[in-house]
Amino acid sequence: MSNLTVDADRLLRRIEELGSLGRDAQGRLVRVAASDMDKLGRDRLVAWLEEAGLEVAVDRIGNIFGIWRDDANAGEAPVMLGSHIDTVIDAGIYDGCYGVLAGLEAIESLKEAGFAPARPLVVAAFTNEEGVRFSPDMMGSLVFAGGRDLEEALASVGTDGAVLGKELERIGYAGRHAPGFLKPHAYVELHVEQGPVLEREGIAIGAVENLQGISWQRITIDGEANHAGTTPMRMRRDAGVAAARVIGFLADRASASPTPTVATVGTIAFEPNAINVIPSRATFTIDLRDPNETHLREQEAALAAFLDNLAASAGVTVQAESLARFEPVSFDAGIVSLIEDGARAAGLSCRRMTSGAGHDAQMIARIAPSAMIFVPSRGGISHNPAEFTVPEDLVAGANILLGVAARLAAD
Ligand code: GLV
Ligand code: MN
Ligand code: MN
Repeated sequence: MSNLTVDADRLLRRIEELGSLGRDAQGRLVRVAASDMDKLGRDRLVAWLEEAGLEVAVDRIGNIFGIWRDDANAGEAPVMLGSHIDTVIDAGIYDGCYGVLAGLEAIESLKEAGFAPARPLVVAAFTNEEGVRFSPDMMGSLVFAGGRDLEEALASVGTDGAVLGKELERIGYAGRHAPGFLKPHAYVELHVEQGPVLEREGIAIGAVENLQGISWQRITIDGEANHAGTTPMRMRRDAGVAAARVIGFLADRASASPTPTVATVGTIAFEPNAINVIPSRATFTIDLRDPNETHLREQEAALAAFLDNLAASAGVTVQAESLARFEPVSFDAGIVSLIEDGARAAGLSCRRMTSGAGHDAQMIARIAPSAMIFVPSRGGISHNPAEFTVPEDLVAGANILLGVAARLAAD
């Protein structure tokens, strides 16, 4: 199959078209999970799956599958390709969408070329990978892999108060299949790197061999509202100042860490949120990551100790709630080697690497040999509309995916 390639124009056109769907009045891409905007993307994807002659299946957590099987191979475990099409707020057009559309493209190209796989090939678009509206992230693939109870996931309450199960019903994607109804033989996810390594080193393909651990928490600090003009500094129980101390602690500790720990406070809200009122409450989220589980636990423990001390010294109460906790994952060595072989055969430079971002592959690795392919991201920018990968790199990655998929489906 080594001389088979994807239809580059079709792939690039679809990436642009999907990226044009789900924009708000300011033109921002906001296809957050199970929203009306998400529906627009989902409907378009399903239309493309149908046009490609794939059988479309949706499971109860809203994961969408495009299945190519025939009478001869229907009993075999499928090779699954995929990623997600939900986005963050003000997203770029490649994160997740590239992996789904390249998966479709690889399958469609193999089908058109008359390839006769020994196994079915499936492209998957998993629900709520980003976790912006509903926690945890990677929820659809987590439920699919049996890592979270379906009903519990469907009962998740979003940042806007909406319930995931109701939203999936409302947008027409509460499917009938039990999550996990397909048992993958292998799973391969193609993704933009979203970091600077490949571009900086001038390397075309990343063979991703592991993925770092993720800890998400929501912190609620309660102090006391009081007058901003009359309350002496020493008499304040200022939840805002306490929150700022946590942010400073995390940034200093991660920056000084000898390990590649990263820490982010990406959301914060004050109550009552008024210019002349000392905040009575601060609610914010923490995203803490490290490729090593022991180090991640050390960081979590240091944070917990800091929060305890803060409560005592600042006269506030502090509550910490875990929103997501995933250990680091090692991918399948055999698939990583297939990716390297594919790159070598195509004359492309390749290196092994760790993923800094969370991905659905991290969840599917629980039930099937899995690995990921990365292509360079310009300036290492992602979760930002400036996210960009040159078309040649997008096509090169899709061709590696096609080759690896064909190899995995051949026996
Ligand atoms: C998913 O994009 C993540 O937060 O890593
Ligand atoms: Mn992604
Ligand atoms: Mn993302």
